[in-house]
Amino acid sequence: MSLTTFQPAGSSTQRSNATPAKVTIPWLQQKKSLRQPVTCVTAYDYASARLIDEAGLDLILVGDSLAMVMQGQPDTLAITLDEMLLYTRGVRRAVKRALLVADMPFGSYQVDEREGVANAIRFVKEAGAEAVKIEGGANRASLVRRLTDAEIPVMGHIGLTPQSVHRMGGYKVQGKTLAAVDKLRADALALQEAGCFALVLEGMPRELGTILTAELTIPTIGIGAGPDCDGQILVLHDMLSLTFSPPAKFVRRYADIGAHIRQAVEEYKRDVESRNFPTEEESYHLPAGVQL
Ligand code: KIV
Repeated sequence: MSLTTFQPAGSSTQRSNATPAKVTIPWLQQKKSLRQPVTCVTAYDYASARLIDEAGLDLILVGDSLAMVMQGQPDTLAITLDEMLLYTRGVRRAVKRALLVADMPFGSYQVDEREGVANAIRFVKEAGAEAVKIEGGANRASLVRRLTDAEIPVMGHIGLTPQSVHRMGGYKVQGKTLAAVDKLRADALALQEAGCFALVLEGMPRELGTILTAELTIPTIGIGAGPDCDGQILVLHDMLSLTFSPPAKFVRRYADIGAHIRQAVEEYKRDVESRNFPTEEESYHLPAGVQL
């Protein structure tokens, strides 16, 4: 780092309330203190990541949900580390401002902590991720400590954790009994204590989202956890109607891109079949003087 780029503590824009040119973890923390909502969405490819980044969202997650929405798999379990790295690299090339977080896929951190740290380092070194996300509660606290010791920021993820689909017996709202609420509160505190910089709260009663947000000092990012979380995240394909099954209750459809694509492609098909495409204006010509 050159002296011209080095900013002594206190001189950075991170200290002001102004929106920074680059989203950082301290800025997300500051947003919580200022009660400014943290805006997050998933992305899996260059084009959508670039549009999202230019729209000014705070955090982009290369979620393992891509297994379902990009690859048509029934759940997130089969996606591999190498596949996640490939998608993350494409997103990295697009994202200039948002914080880029990569989801560690099932099997890449459950075997042992040493392997988990080595795999997380691959996301940073080979794909340019600025942080990783892992699913699980207090059982992951020790891994979170190892990752943060290795200078890799970690976003936790509790509640409805899709990698636990078989244990949960399906994608079911969690935290519906007092015992389950106590367990999730303990999980959240353990992850914060271990060093997570933020926590995704998925699929839980809004009352629990409210309590966890009040109890934690790190930002909570809700998805199906009610309006009181410090931020919200949605799967891009859900919010754009690029999926093929009815949306979950918490999904709001902001556009029907699926219908636009269908309509555009059908129109193109008609134009080709009727020789309406391409036209003279859409064709190249030999240079003047060159005759066949
Ligand atoms: O994989 C994913 O997209 C996620 C978000 C839903 C939080 O984990």
